[in-house]
Amino acid sequence: MEATKDSLVNVYDEEVPKKNDIIKFEGVTKNFNDFTAVNNLNLTVKKGEFLSLLGPSGCGKTTTLRMIAGFEHPTKGNIYIDKAKTTNLPPYKRSVNTVFQNYALFPHLTIEENIGFGLKQKKLKKNLVKNKVKEMLGLIGLKEHLSKYPKQLSGGQQQRVALARALINEPQVLLLDEPLGALDLKLRQKMQFELKQIHEKVGITFIYVTHDQEEALVMSDRIAVMNNGNIEQIDTPEKIYNNPKSSFVADFIGEANILQLNQLDENQLSILDKSSMEYKNTMVIRPENIEISDSPLKNVDTINLKGNIVDITFVGAKVVIQCNINDFTLVVHSFNQNLYKSLKVNQKVYMSFHKRNITFV
Ligand SMILES: Nc1ncnc2c1ncn2[C@@H]1O[C@H](COP(=O)(O)OP(=O)(O)OP(=O)(O)O)[C@@H](O)[C@H]1O
Ligand SMILES: [Mg+2]
Repeated sequence: MEATKDSLVNVYDEEVPKKNDIIKFEGVTKNFNDFTAVNNLNLTVKKGEFLSLLGPSGCGKTTTLRMIAGFEHPTKGNIYIDKAKTTNLPPYKRSVNTVFQNYALFPHLTIEENIGFGLKQKKLKKNLVKNKVKEMLGLIGLKEHLSKYPKQLSGGQQQRVALARALINEPQVLLLDEPLGALDLKLRQKMQFELKQIHEKVGITFIYVTHDQEEALVMSDRIAVMNNGNIEQIDTPEKIYNNPKSSFVADFIGEANILQLNQLDENQLSILDKSSMEYKNTMVIRPENIEISDSPLKNVDTINLKGNIVDITFVGAKVVIQCNINDFTLVVHSFNQNLYKSLKVNQKVYMSFHKRNITFV
């Protein structure tokens, strides 16, 4: 087959994605004038996966998504969708749909018409469209609302309609750019579970952009943590949380105490195996893995640090305690409410953590 400029160019050589890969970025860079928004990105997304792009504002999440959708084109590198090189293919030729933060529903069309819009454009038979829309309304739990207009629905309901409108086209990949950003916390949490269930039901690949770490942890099969146009780590939520590869990832996901080993004395570090491959000069310890007590713990694999409490804050389910040790502050989270009553600011205490809870970055 002769490949034209806009057609899918199938190149079955070793650089092409594997059977189960739906998207592959190969050294993709996006510059806006002299600013690099995405920097030499390599990324593979598996078929049916729920992948989140997570990172602070301006790190390049939306730009990455827009390049998959075809709204932006890479300055350098290639993007493959389902084994086809799509780097410069226009959006309408890609089997990809996007759900945005602002629902972008058509205000003058009913919910039924909004959801069926894409299929009507494709000139599918009226009955077929009606049935498919019904199926979608069932999926998003809005069967009774089909003849309403968008403004007669709540934010969460409108977002579900936007989702159904994208899913009805049966794209290979659904791109979601902070779709829950405008919702309040409770509704957002409810929608996170709904989205996860919908993903499981439809089996389509979801690529989800968020700067909310909890959202990414709750929903994703894998998370790509982005910083300054780069992916710092791509892993399962558990690995990202328990084995962060850099201090940026450790600090961005959850809370972390990041210590330079020269802040501790040799005696305190004697339990660490310095010949280990894992051993590095910066260590991460999560606040919930630190125990506070009056005396050092006797376990041989435990580091005990002596310090002074500078703050105790009650935050509902947990108590947050800050302790000064030499020139740094350690944050401890405790779920023991009695501890809150028994501790005092300026009290001298031991903060202890097991070797297995240390991650070196
Ligand atoms: N069309 C453009 N022209 C110039 N600069 C741009 C353009 N689009 C994005 N940028 C810049 O590229 C960087 C990455 O933007 P992007 O929208 O991808 O960030 P983001 O990670 O989605 O952030 P947010 O969480 O705030 O949505 C930003 O510094 C942004 O200002
Ligand atoms: Mg964005």
